[in-house]
Amino acid sequence: MNAKPPTPPDDITDRLESGFGFGKVILLGEHAVVYGQPAIAAGITTGIQAVTTKGTGRISVPAWNLETNITADTPVARAVAAIFTTLGAQKLDVTCDAQIPAGSGLGSSAALSVAITRAISNYSNAPVALQAKAIIAAESIFHDTPSGIDAAAASQGGLGVFSRATGWKPLASSRGFELCVGLTGVSRQTATIVQAVKQLCDRTPVARRVIDSLGDVTRTGFDAVAMGDIDTLGRLFDVAHGLLCALRVSSPELDAMVHMARGAGALGAKLTGAGGGGAVIALAPGHSARVLATWKQAGFQGFVTTVGGPAKA
Ligand code: MEV
Repeated sequence: MNAKPPTPPDDITDRLESGFGFGKVILLGEHAVVYGQPAIAAGITTGIQAVTTKGTGRISVPAWNLETNITADTPVARAVAAIFTTLGAQKLDVTCDAQIPAGSGLGSSAALSVAITRAISNYSNAPVALQAKAIIAAESIFHDTPSGIDAAAASQGGLGVFSRATGWKPLASSRGFELCVGLTGVSRQTATIVQAVKQLCDRTPVARRVIDSLGDVTRTGFDAVAMGDIDTLGRLFDVAHGLLCALRVSSPELDAMVHMARGAGALGAKLTGAGGGGAVIALAPGHSARVLATWKQAGFQGFVTTVGGPAKA
């Protein structure tokens, strides 16, 4: 509409450009957000940095052992090609420093899409609306019909509430929350799991009510986050994990890591993202090191991140 036309390929200069996409954790509301319920999520500073230079469409993500070209017929290649097409870029190579694993529940594909879009947009000062179009085009290839929460968190960073109707709204919290993030090491396809939940709800109408309950849990979480009430938030994590188990999106590894975290002193723990593998989050103030050590002993990697906190002046 008012988006600037794509830059002609010949306008690509010799400049090196870079862009960053935040990784994300969903605190409450994954899956339910697909059905219009709100979710609380955060863009975290562990993410993906993309660097673009003049080239031939090569895509390199060394941390994922990924070396390909936009002409290849793989989801990553097709997604990056969609970004190129939307932004009118062709003669570029892309190298990404990925601090989050692929398919890990931490929004790796959205972070990749945002990082590459931002790097390419620097050549032509592409307007935000056109950048959003490029990110959505890539995310649709990765995830079919995503709710948009991953792209919003990867673009915005910080803590926010997302719903399909209202998009991303920053969420103020009176204190920051230290979250332990644990990785099962099992990667999975978000689209497949979202599809399985849809089938379950179609065949078993009572399961559809679990989605509404997840929405209620998220709405209860608004005040808990705003007031910095970590005891309540921890309990909400536990309730959310139980409901997500009812939707059959947990896995033996996710359940084991949730129980380990609780045993190591967490106030609450849950899977985060699509599930089926991927990641868990645990709220364990004063016990984060113990939670990470317990996971590590069982062979699972993890890290600590802080989300929320009073707005900086
Ligand atoms: C994936 O990070 C979150 C899901 O709710 C899917 C989506 O919202 O697109 C499982």
